[in-house]
Amino acid sequence: MRIIKLNAIDSTNLFLRSLSIDTNVEDFTVVVAKHQTKGRGQMGTVWSSQDAKNLTFSVFKRLVNLKLDQHFVISMVASLAVINTLKKLNLPKLSVKWPNDILSANKKICGILIENVIKQNNVSATVVGIGLNVNQVNFSNLPQASSLLNVTGISYDLDELLQSILKELEILFDLVESNHFKTIKTTYESYLFRKDKPSTFKNEEGLFSGFIKGVSNEGLLEVLLEDNILKTFDLKTIKLLY
Ligand code: BTN
Repeated sequence: MRIIKLNAIDSTNLFLRSLSIDTNVEDFTVVVAKHQTKGRGQMGTVWSSQDAKNLTFSVFKRLVNLKLDQHFVISMVASLAVINTLKKLNLPKLSVKWPNDILSANKKICGILIENVIKQNNVSATVVGIGLNVNQVNFSNLPQASSLLNVTGISYDLDELLQSILKELEILFDLVESNHFKTIKTTYESYLFRKDKPSTFKNEEGLFSGFIKGVSNEGLLEVLLEDNILKTFDLKTIKLLY
């Protein structure tokens, strides 16, 4: 494992992606930055984070024989690495809002951005970007967001948290390499936010209700609709409201 610590960068994900194109990057290279000028979120959003208060880092991981249609295992592994770390710190009510927002007490405390390198229908490598809100207090423009400090009243050491998440990531990626997909999926599903609870969703046709049952192997959300039909949805077509 190689850890590169930077004061400022556009985005740790972008940094590792360009590094991996230009050079022969060592497996499990980690880039952590105190400040990102172009922090990136899912679906083209911006990730903002108060300087040096939170963890913003990315991990470059090579993968062997991971088929493109198995890519969701990376999302599950990244989510579980954060969950397992936070569980040890007794964070209350931990859940994963599909696909990979980490919530504590129903507030988002961590976002994950995964960018894969695809070669001949395989995911040959991935960049896992993690933004964990740790010691930031003010989230005035983001009512759904919170931090470890806000949830527990305790300040945390960023480096200790980073080490713990990296260790969990190593363990979980070893499980991927030994094909323990089922265990990973079952554990991930046990943390799914609003699982088996009546929920409201939005798609291009409007609002509808249903019960989240799990995820498919490809990472689609499985929802039991009111007419008792199980349907799968992908991230681009559905939004979970509450
Ligand atoms: C989201 O919830 O929308 C995903 C946010 C991911 C943010 C992290 S911070 C480190 C890494 N670098 C980025 O530019 N984004 C990810």
